[in-house]
Amino acid sequence: PRVLVIGGGQNAEHEVSLASAAAVAAALRLSGHTVSTLTIDREGIWRADGLPPCASPIESLGLALPLIAEADVIFPAVHGSLGEDGALAALAALVGARIVGSDLHAGAIGMDKWATKLVADAVGVRTARGRVISVEDIGDAEFECEVVVKPVSAGSSYGVSLVTEESELLDALRTAARFDRRILVEEVVRAREIDVAVLREAGGIRWAAPPLEIHASGLFDTATKYDGSARFTVPAQLDAAETSALQRAAIAVFDALGCAGVARMDFFLTDDGPVLNEVNTMPGLTAASQVPRMFAGAGVEYTDLVGRLVAGARV
Ligand code: DAL
Ligand code: MG
Repeated sequence: PRVLVIGGGQNAEHEVSLASAAAVAAALRLSGHTVSTLTIDREGIWRADGLPPCASPIESLGLALPLIAEADVIFPAVHGSLGEDGALAALAALVGARIVGSDLHAGAIGMDKWATKLVADAVGVRTARGRVISVEDIGDAEFECEVVVKPVSAGSSYGVSLVTEESELLDALRTAARFDRRILVEEVVRAREIDVAVLREAGGIRWAAPPLEIHASGLFDTATKYDGSARFTVPAQLDAAETSALQRAAIAVFDALGCAGVARMDFFLTDDGPVLNEVNTMPGLTAASQVPRMFAGAGVEYTDLVGRLVAGARV
């Protein structure tokens, strides 16, 4: 099939999305797909080889739409807002195109860490205790205990701070406020960090890959995510009960959100079992990212994984 891979995007994860899109496009070409690419630049201008340069997002989208309509499958490798949050799934739905991954509902809820928490709690998957503060109210926030402060909707840990003293709270809230009008303040969970990826195949069967453990010295923050200093273990050293509790929790959240394609659920493994940290409905997809490593651990190599995602694309 002719696959249109979309990368870039208008948020802090732009570069990561370019890397994911490049890796996906290369793998699809290798496995014999006909691939074209579209890049959304930081200003929201759609660019592709052969398209004349445009000055406005609306004009560029007008030129890009025929490429979207011609493709058999859209692969939206755009992390974060106006991509992973369901925006591209909505565009595909409006034009009737088949698209890889979650639909607009799952994408929008999965991008919203507060809404995800409510859904997870409702299906019996624990999350850290937390509250939401509006940007208008950050001056009134009080420090009660060590917390993690994060934008409700952002990715790759942009805008996330660990607050251990009262004097750090206001700065942390202001940092998060650069990314979102709603800020999540969560109790710190100190425990092993374990990721679980769930894949929904073309036939509708969904399954979880062997969990991966993240070993970061300190916070697994934006720098650690991309400077190569974090180490991953796949499969994570877990006993059978821990693995099954993590995989069951991941599938429960995947189903409750109505995810499709692949999603990565990030957990803390506490003495009382898994605590969900967050969900990524379009997780990092370079060959070195966690999701490809987990599926490689299950015998599904990168090109195979990307091919399965295309085969599972839906209207
Ligand atoms: N948000 C980044 C891309 C990830 O989940 O891997
Ligand atoms: Mg994320």
